[in-house]
Amino acid sequence: MKQTFSFELNGRPLTVSCEPQRRLIDLLRNDFGLTGAKIGCGEGECGACTVLVNDKPLLACIMAAGMVRGQKVLTIEGLRQRPGFSILAQAFNDVGAVQCGFCTPGMIMSAYALLSRHRTPTPAQIQHAISGNLCRCTGYNMIVEAVILAQKYREEDW
Ligand code: FES
Ligand code: FES
Repeated sequence: MKQTFSFELNGRPLTVSCEPQRRLIDLLRNDFGLTGAKIGCGEGECGACTVLVNDKPLLACIMAAGMVRGQKVLTIEGLRQRPGFSILAQAFNDVGAVQCGFCTPGMIMSAYALLSRHRTPTPAQIQHAISGNLCRCTGYNMIVEAVILAQKYREEDW
């Protein structure tokens, strides 16, 4: 049965009416046209669907839409409006960390969450932060390099 609930999506408060058990990824992609988060495995294994909920990276393919009631959800589209996005995108481009690009939005979301928590994470911390994001193009070394480079590019604030 549908329920009506409110949450914040990319900085905008809104109210939806939907089945609370519906997948968050479907709500975002189908109802709001936010297709940056991808459906890869659909089973919580690949990280392609990563969004931030209250600044924490979570998997929208295994999250029920009703779980975001009263929470703050940020997708890659919302992140594009923040300075951190252009810094990360520049760094990913500069080291060639984007290959097919399917995993990239999820990687960027996880990297952004990490760099928002830590000013200078170690390579091991970066690897840990993106360990839930699979890249079939095996660009992991370049992705870690990109996050290190983004630390250098960024100013005091994102
Ligand atoms: Fe969500 Fe793979 S699509 S983890
Ligand atoms: Fe292709 Fe990561 S760039 S899956």
